[in-house]
Amino acid sequence: MTQIGKTAKAFAPASVANVAVGFDVLGFSASAAGGDTVLVEILKEKTVIIEPASGLDLKLPKDPKLNTASAGLLQLIVDHKLNHGFRVSIQKGIPLGSGLGGSAASAVAAIFAASSLLEKPLAKKAMLKYALIGETVASGSRHADNIAPSLYGGLTLSIVEENEITVVELPVPQDLWCVVIHPHIMIETKFARGLLTPEIPFQRHISQSAHLAAFMSGLFQSDMALLAWGLKDIVVEPQRKHLIPGFEAIQKAALGAGAVGCSISGAGPSMFAWAEGQSRAIEIESQMKAAARFTPCSAWAFALKNDGARLLAL
Ligand code: HSE
Repeated sequence: MTQIGKTAKAFAPASVANVAVGFDVLGFSASAAGGDTVLVEILKEKTVIIEPASGLDLKLPKDPKLNTASAGLLQLIVDHKLNHGFRVSIQKGIPLGSGLGGSAASAVAAIFAASSLLEKPLAKKAMLKYALIGETVASGSRHADNIAPSLYGGLTLSIVEENEITVVELPVPQDLWCVVIHPHIMIETKFARGLLTPEIPFQRHISQSAHLAAFMSGLFQSDMALLAWGLKDIVVEPQRKHLIPGFEAIQKAALGAGAVGCSISGAGPSMFAWAEGQSRAIEIESQMKAAARFTPCSAWAFALKNDGARLLAL
């Protein structure tokens, strides 16, 4: 029996999409950099109401069809023939336009909380479908490279097809650390996607395929040299790096301090670097921050085994 007024609260973490070599398909959880929390309440009416958001960013769409946290819930009501709706209150912990998967985190936290209020909670695979609806509204494109790691945690490969989303949870070599630096400027994902050329030269496609294959093999074989060779973006990074002040200096500082690789996090402006071991990661973090000295920024160093979404209260 559905209980009107019952609430659930869920948290979904920040994430780093693309991981240099897997545009729109690879991503990893960055819960160390925070996340979004969404409170969902069962409503008598078969609709979704968005309460004013609290936290970092208050300029979120109020129309439930346009808000990343509610668009999927509207479809959930239809698909599951629910005889009730939801009231949604978002607490933003991830700044908008930071390249840290803020829209995905809101979408994931909302469906995670709403699912726990259903008589039969959804499996993660079904949650993905609804979170993807929200992410699509926000970014203008169907890709799950932020929602998959935000939901599952860890490092994921997500394959989005017409009627199916497949997520592969990828192995992470032991003692692999990550540094994320967030310059305090905003880049809209839709804008950063609009910059990308629809065609790439055939030779570049071959090189990028080799990098992706090396990267994946490096993960499965725990081979850091292969991983480092693969962790490069020769397709998208050259087209977006000018949006990030000091990009080249920050990347050079990370690689100079021994990073396994360094590139843009999602659509930017955040950047990430991978490192072997905590002490190397801390050194890389300090070098990246020093190189970004003209732009105020936040930075985190963390072991690359971050959690996915979780229920905070029911
Ligand atoms: N893969 C996406 C992009 C992530 O880089 O545009 C941001 O939604």
